[in-house]
Amino acid sequence: MNAENPYDQQEYPGSPRPQAHPRRLRTHAWLHGHRAAELAGARVLELGCGDAQHLIWLASEFPQMRLVGVDLAESGVRRGRDIARAAGLKVELHACDLRAIDAGWGEFDYIIAHGVYSWVPPAVRDALLAVCAERLAPAGVAFVSYNTLPGGHMRRLLEDMLTYHVRDMAAPAERMLAARDFAQRLVAWSAEGEPERAVLAAECQRLLEMTPAGLYHDALADINTPLLFADFAAHAARHGLAYLAEAHFSDAERIWLNPNFADEVAQLASGRVAREQYADFARMRRFRQTLLVHADVGVSAVPLVAAVRDMAVAARLTAGEPGASGARSFSDGKNGSISIADPARAHLMEVLAQMAPARLPFADAARFTGARDEEALADLARFFLVLYSAGMAELELDRTPIACVVAERPAVTAYARWQVGQGAAVATLRGQVLEIEDALSRALIGLLDGQRDVADIAHALAAQVRTQNLPLPPALESSPDHADLEALLAARLPEKLAELARVGLLVEAGA
Ligand SMILES: C[S@@+](CC[C@H](N)C(=O)[O-])C[C@H]1O[C@@H](n2cnc3c(N)ncnc32)[C@H](O)[C@@H]1O
Repeated sequence: MNAENPYDQQEYPGSPRPQAHPRRLRTHAWLHGHRAAELAGARVLELGCGDAQHLIWLASEFPQMRLVGVDLAESGVRRGRDIARAAGLKVELHACDLRAIDAGWGEFDYIIAHGVYSWVPPAVRDALLAVCAERLAPAGVAFVSYNTLPGGHMRRLLEDMLTYHVRDMAAPAERMLAARDFAQRLVAWSAEGEPERAVLAAECQRLLEMTPAGLYHDALADINTPLLFADFAAHAARHGLAYLAEAHFSDAERIWLNPNFADEVAQLASGRVAREQYADFARMRRFRQTLLVHADVGVSAVPLVAAVRDMAVAARLTAGEPGASGARSFSDGKNGSISIADPARAHLMEVLAQMAPARLPFADAARFTGARDEEALADLARFFLVLYSAGMAELELDRTPIACVVAERPAVTAYARWQVGQGAAVATLRGQVLEIEDALSRALIGLLDGQRDVADIAHALAAQVRTQNLPLPPALESSPDHADLEALLAARLPEKLAELARVGLLVEAGA
């Protein structure tokens, strides 16, 4: 362990990053007319992998992938090896500088660097892109996230003050405590008055909501360099890499759905990078998760409507009452709403919501709505592309093996079982991280290894209730003694398992 390394001083617990799943990378590549490697046997390299929980999550779905991680901080790598061993999953982790990676490491279909580029010195930043260029297979896709300007200026406002405030403090705990205390005071000091003070108060609030790891390694980091997207793209271009797309369709992407913005920017700026730069200006963007490919790979500058027809679609929208025109409004309660006039399409939205988390192949969605000729199919594909860009639907080229119906011997991933065993939040197959509060549900998840049927699960669960004194839900507590506990549990299991399927925790049988 290196006492000088901030990531050895204060741990940075990892997590699955759904936006950096090769499934997402392949889907976005496909949307731009680029065929990236099939997932099953893909070779994946993660630079600055921390404790490798993203790779371990991938390993629990794809045991055949070659999953290689590298991180400078020994403590994170050691933790990653322990987790992988405990979960019985195979990842290859190296505690070393990413600059040590050479041709001997082989070639990779997907290279991921999440939360590294902006947080390392210029020479490492350059080496990171060099590794992406040199170790990426010809059809490979790299994922690099970084802080951007102009939004980064807002962040800097507070960070500069914090740097000053904690300048004489060395211990991580002291620095974090002081930073929080200072931010709280600033909120109070700046509560009223000029608009810039409101901006500062919002930044303080953001800081106060950060995890300890985020606070220490982001807000209080010695190096945290935001840059213009255009400068990042130019840096990538110097390494022979070109912009493919963003990995995450966020609020910042929705601006492209505004036709006025798209038209005006098309007049102001030529070229995709310049246009993206204007989008960042308009949204004060502060963070990007960019996908890169080799520059000699031709990719479409805009998502291809036709590519949607190869995908499966999903949406979990809630319908409002029909308006005067008969059109119905659908909302996801977060990103916005859409008005749908076509009754067949509105009905499709209801069906998709009911079948979530399952996906529906586009061809089935088309059949359902009666879209047959080319024009109708293109129109439906465009509709899903717009919904996807607005963050209101999902598109997936390769199916996630989520069980929508509870199998005879239900299973969650080995990683999820390890997580419940640790008392940690649990990652679904889609990478959503769920807090499972009640002890009985946690015990149940721990038993779902695909080897037990409902009777076996009820038996094992009842034994755990007795030996570990697990608290029971009120409906079961009133049971006079525990003699019939097993039967009571068995009776409740189908409903409970269906709930786990609904949130995307159960793996399809045979996957
Ligand atoms: C903010 S953390 C991100 C960890 C992980 N990618 C995630 O998203 O959870 C940045 C990581 O980069 C690692 N790192 C910094 N410089 C490095 C270098 N030169 N070579 C390899 N890893 C490095 C740090 O040790 C740290 O674990």
